[in-house]
Amino acid sequence: MKQTAESRGALATDVRIWPVRRYVEMHRRSLEDIERFWSEQARKLDWYKTWDRVLDWDFPHARWFAGGLLNASYQCVDRHVKTWRKSKVAIYWEGEGGESRVLSYSTLYREVSRFASMLKRLGIKKGDCVVLYLPMIPELPVAMLACARIGAIHTVIFSGFSAQSISERAEETKAKLLITADGGYRRGKTIPLKQIADEAVSISPSLETMVVVKRTGEPVTMQDGRDHWLSDLLEEADMVFEPEPVESEHPLYILYTSGTTGRPKGIVHSTGGYLVFNHAAYEWVFDVREESVYWCTADVGWVTGHSSIVYAPLSHGAAIVIYEGAPDYPTVDRWWDIVEKYGVSVLYTSPTAIRMFMAQGEDIPARHDLSSLELLGSVGEPINPEAWHWYYRVIGQERCPIVDTWWQTETGGIMISPTPGIESVPLKPGSVTFPLPGVDAAVLDYDGNETRPGETGYLVIRKPWPGMLVDIYGDPDRYKESYWSQYPGCYYTGDYAMKDEDGYFWLLGRADEVLKVAGHRLGTTELEDAAVAHPAVVEAAVAGRPDEVKGEGIVLFVTLKADEQPSTELEKDLVKHMRQTIGPVASPDEVYFVGSLPKTRSGKIMRRVLKAVAAGASVGDMTTLENEASVEEVRRAYEGLRKAAGD
Ligand code: WT7
Repeated sequence: MKQTAESRGALATDVRIWPVRRYVEMHRRSLEDIERFWSEQARKLDWYKTWDRVLDWDFPHARWFAGGLLNASYQCVDRHVKTWRKSKVAIYWEGEGGESRVLSYSTLYREVSRFASMLKRLGIKKGDCVVLYLPMIPELPVAMLACARIGAIHTVIFSGFSAQSISERAEETKAKLLITADGGYRRGKTIPLKQIADEAVSISPSLETMVVVKRTGEPVTMQDGRDHWLSDLLEEADMVFEPEPVESEHPLYILYTSGTTGRPKGIVHSTGGYLVFNHAAYEWVFDVREESVYWCTADVGWVTGHSSIVYAPLSHGAAIVIYEGAPDYPTVDRWWDIVEKYGVSVLYTSPTAIRMFMAQGEDIPARHDLSSLELLGSVGEPINPEAWHWYYRVIGQERCPIVDTWWQTETGGIMISPTPGIESVPLKPGSVTFPLPGVDAAVLDYDGNETRPGETGYLVIRKPWPGMLVDIYGDPDRYKESYWSQYPGCYYTGDYAMKDEDGYFWLLGRADEVLKVAGHRLGTTELEDAAVAHPAVVEAAVAGRPDEVKGEGIVLFVTLKADEQPSTELEKDLVKHMRQTIGPVASPDEVYFVGSLPKTRSGKIMRRVLKAVAAGASVGDMTTLENEASVEEVRRAYEGLRKAAGD
């Protein structure tokens, strides 16, 4: 049943809670027989051959829709070209400098076919990995869909990442081909992507070929025989290129994300399960309508971009907006300009972005006509009620429900969220409301019992779901260890959560050593490993501290080699080093030089202590601490420097 915008945006305080009971009942039924439930959803896609079994569950490995054959690019493109959607807009692309490109589904079909034929001519085969290091230009989704079309596995690397990050991922996946651009635009400046890619290739023996998209037109060096311009290769490519049917469990992509060790995890997603789950979740959460214009502001380099820009909306034949540049360039109202220009109806963004806009003041969005908006979304970190209300009032003009969606790179798609596409659920600002149908989420205490209402515990998923990761690339032991070893039979999310007396879920941040900086996931160990690689550093420890806009900021504590002295130059150099090793997302907000770090008797860094110091809170029990004096020292260094900085 479709509802009016007003009823869909109801707040829990405005209405009685009765619709929740109905939703809870429907959810309960979906879990009684998940195989029947998910097979009904799977029938909404086009299969070359239907599955023999819905689910093979050999803990902790799931095979969804085994025996089925399909193709992701067929789902997202060919299927629509066979209908009236052939002439419907697929992508509205907005360049940072204001140029635009509009691709209909038939244009997308042609571009994806040619690109796929080019990949085939370069010798890329089903099962090969292809590294995509591209800015937010239409060639990125085209390249992803083209890989999927021939059964190649794409691994997209966020264009803010360093040469070292690219090369690590290329080596692990044994990718032979890297697709990049001459450069990308960010705040009016160009980012030399080809140059960074050159550096990556020079340290990656597996990478043999580079395809370069011309974007900025800046001069680049092209190595004969190794590097090719995309435009040259496409001249030779075939216009029609049929998709290759692949097995449901064939990997669609690998996406790297941080964990609790120094090495990022290559999260592997399947084709069939991933698409079935995302197709269904998108319909429920974003209330898919043919006339809607969807804008997810994430970068395609993150999972949000994979699922909510490319695979889920395109599988529905939706019109999407892709914006190349920064939210505040050339002016702070850039986003509202885009909403107005394309008549965006669904805006899906992060709490960080919302808080940034809040800080700029409400008169900025007020200068624009935002009346096309019907639904708002939030993802990436908990949204504080203040930001929620601002988003609801100033952007949604009290007309649009907010879907606060909880999910992870590993879950593939949205797991807990309001579902206006099924039925409106009264909203509580800051709560992600209820698990989606077919998703068995629970909050457990340390001993594995369900917590009582209002009690904090660990969020787990008790039943497999089709969008779940199928593995960590090349490391099945780590897959089991990271996700399936904390609670018997359950997927462990690594998040703290709480269920209130009405059964609403509230997400309370990470329970492990992972930071969320502006919604990006960064492992403390990964950051520390990067810091100790600096020649002046002996030991490093990282802690998150609350940040009004970014949610969390990075505080880096380091001890130096005997012949090194703390200095502002060294601090700057360390920040630069972190940016070069991981990427600008890893820039520490503060760096402190200390004589020693607080450690347990077994030598483990007491991050809890550092975190408390960085947040200015009480340190708590220190009886397990090996060198108590270091706490005082860390605190003094921290406070002293704050004073020196006039904070
Ligand atoms: C972690 C996953 C999947 C989208 C982008 C992030 C946090 C995500 C929410 C939300 C509270 C959230 C969790 C989760 N998170 N969405 N709506 N409310 N926290 O993907 O980088 O894999 O990070 O982001 O801590 O575990 P990711």
